Amino acid sequence: MGGNSKGTTTYPSACPRPPTKRLGIGYNARLDCARVGRVEGKETAVSSSRSSAPHVAVVGVTGAVGQEFLAVLEQRNFPFSNLKLLASARSAGKTQEFKGKTYKIEELTETSFKGVDVALFSAGGSISKKFGPIASEAGATVVDNSSAFRMTENIPLVVPEVNPEALKGWAIGRAAPGQGGGGKAGIIANPNCSTIIMLVPVTPLHRVAHVKRMLVSTYQAASGAGYAAMQELETQTRDVLAGRPAQPKIFKHQYAFNLFSHNSDMYPNGYNQEEMKMVNEAHKIWGDKSVHIAATCVRVPVMRAHAESIYLEFAEALDEKKARELLGKAPGVTLIDDRESNRFPTPLDASHKDDILVGRIRQDISLNGSGQHGLALFVCGDQLRKGAALNAVQIAELLL
Ligand SMILES: NC(=O)c1ccc[n+]([C@@H]2O[C@H](COP(=O)([O-])OP(=O)(O)OC[C@H]3O[C@@H](n4cnc5c(N)ncnc54)[C@H](OP(=O)(O)O)[C@@H]3O)[C@@H](O)[C@H]2O)c1
Repeated sequence: MGGNSKGTTTYPSACPRPPTKRLGIGYNARLDCARVGRVEGKETAVSSSRSSAPHVAVVGVTGAVGQEFLAVLEQRNFPFSNLKLLASARSAGKTQEFKGKTYKIEELTETSFKGVDVALFSAGGSISKKFGPIASEAGATVVDNSSAFRMTENIPLVVPEVNPEALKGWAIGRAAPGQGGGGKAGIIANPNCSTIIMLVPVTPLHRVAHVKRMLVSTYQAASGAGYAAMQELETQTRDVLAGRPAQPKIFKHQYAFNLFSHNSDMYPNGYNQEEMKMVNEAHKIWGDKSVHIAATCVRVPVMRAHAESIYLEFAEALDEKKARELLGKAPGVTLIDDRESNRFPTPLDASHKDDILVGRIRQDISLNGSGQHGLALFVCGDQLRKGAALNAVQIAELLL
């Protein structure tokens, strides 16, 4: 559970909150859009100039992603005229502080979206399936964090640094056709966290040398499975250190001092759902099914931020010096690649950061002398932030 009756969020102690302050320079949504557009060298998706700030709803606000939504909206100074905070009946009536004001959390119902322009959803797939279309019908543009619509045709699946062009013509809520504007509105899907963390650093390399084959292994944190999983890791760690038996509840396996294959459903091909999401979503976002991708996803006893070991085989030659140069100027990427002092990205470095951290950039020596081209990378990214809330808010900013 994220919020309490006093509106103060309770985080597991191993997951310290960052100080709530604006990021670097004062944030300006249009500047950020321009940054994405400039670096991509493509037309940005920035469309209408709204006369008034949108009415925003956050669905699943008491959850791990929902709380991060609030942090990101505040830190980026996202414009809003009204803010509606929605969760289950369990949380209705509790309060939540936001920007110095106290809001009452409301139960999500079919009438929740009256007057809402943009709805940020993070309450699970079944809630999105039911309420996403209701919100959209009511005139809201939905940015959905669940997997409910990611692979649906005509629903954009967007990472702003990678495929902002997928949002061309889209607008927020009442700027949609028939609602006083000329843009498209509806449901937009946020990709899976592991997919986003993989594609932000790999896409700048793909654009230059074309990835033919990508093999990725993930090391996924507890927070990727929500608050209950974070609490399970903390409780089990305390229990084991105190000599008590660990009691698995959320996951089948002991989580403290252990790691295990990702807890998502298994398919007959031997890959689990998380692994296939990475494959299918990457194909959709890149608009290219010809890239051969396979993933192995593992849950590790880390509180926050996922890590990924990524192996890339390219159609064109790309040496590590050029790769480092490309990644050094890629939007949303920070290099930590210091071989001399064995200093590379860690989940703790990545926690509460916007950027995906990249290091261990090295030539694939198994291809030496073969005439083929391969590189390996190690990346870490905060999956609650860039893997979920930040990416969704960046999508909404592109529509302002
Ligand atoms: N965690 C991540 O890193 C991550 C990354 C990408 C995407 N996602 C996706 O984001 C979604 C939420 O994940 P999470 O990690 O934030 O989970 P979480 O911590 O378990 O939070 C779940 C949220 O959903 C709300 N909810 C549950 N049942 C509801 C209902 N019937 N009506 C309205 N609200 C309801 C909960 O409200 P109550 O507190 O009232 O129960 C809570 O706010 C999932 O679809 C997940 O796949 C998560």
